[in-house]
Amino acid sequence: MNPVRIPVIAVDGPSGVGKGMATRWLAARTGWHRLDSGALYRVLALAAVKAGVALGAHDEVAALASTLDIRFVGETEADEAILVNGANWTDKIRAESTGNLASQIATAPVVRAALLQRQRDFREAPGLIADGRDMGSVVFPDAVLKIFLDAKAEARAMRRHAQLSKKGASVNLDDLFVEVRARDERDRKRAIAPLVAATDAIIIDTTRMSVSQVLVQLEILLRQKQLIS
Ligand code: C5P
Repeated sequence: MNPVRIPVIAVDGPSGVGKGMATRWLAARTGWHRLDSGALYRVLALAAVKAGVALGAHDEVAALASTLDIRFVGETEADEAILVNGANWTDKIRAESTGNLASQIATAPVVRAALLQRQRDFREAPGLIADGRDMGSVVFPDAVLKIFLDAKAEARAMRRHAQLSKKGASVNLDDLFVEVRARDERDRKRAIAPLVAATDAIIIDTTRMSVSQVLVQLEILLRQKQLIS
């Protein structure tokens, strides 16, 4: 007999689309755990830079993964911290430049393989909300609900800009737009686990939607799937 699988909701989509907001809301609404898979790629890229390992030396980068004790603490964006081997890496992990480093190592099959089981280990009762690029297509193909959030690059650059400005970072909108587009290209065109909606994913184009409109859609999906009462 198959063991009863712990349910997963997969939320995939390009950078800056609002997956963080959506998955934090879903985790709060369901009481399930949350996996920020992008943070794992970010930690590994930063660890490589710190260790003086070239990002193109994929085997060496992948080997580093097993040396990293990565812990996520806190529930909300404000009190959330990422501890790596006991040190607080939160701010460095969240930097836009780290996202770009992450997308460079994420093209390598050996790197993705090194992080695969680590992501699956987050599947704990009562359930998991998984945030990433390939959650529904590769990591959790048996997810009970697969959502693909999308939005035009211009809208995503503007959202990122507003988010970073709120945190006091001075960033140029045009530069952000160029970075968002470059990261999209790399993520969508890579040979392995490219950013693509799983065939059974529900696609929500949020370009013209407000945050509350997106949340209403998510609430409807949770109810349709009977994941909340
Ligand atoms: O989601 P986030 O912006 O933190 O991800 C950083 C980068 O890590 C992405 O641009 C992508 O290249 C990579 N990534 C990935 N697969 C995931 C999550 C992130 O390839 N599941």
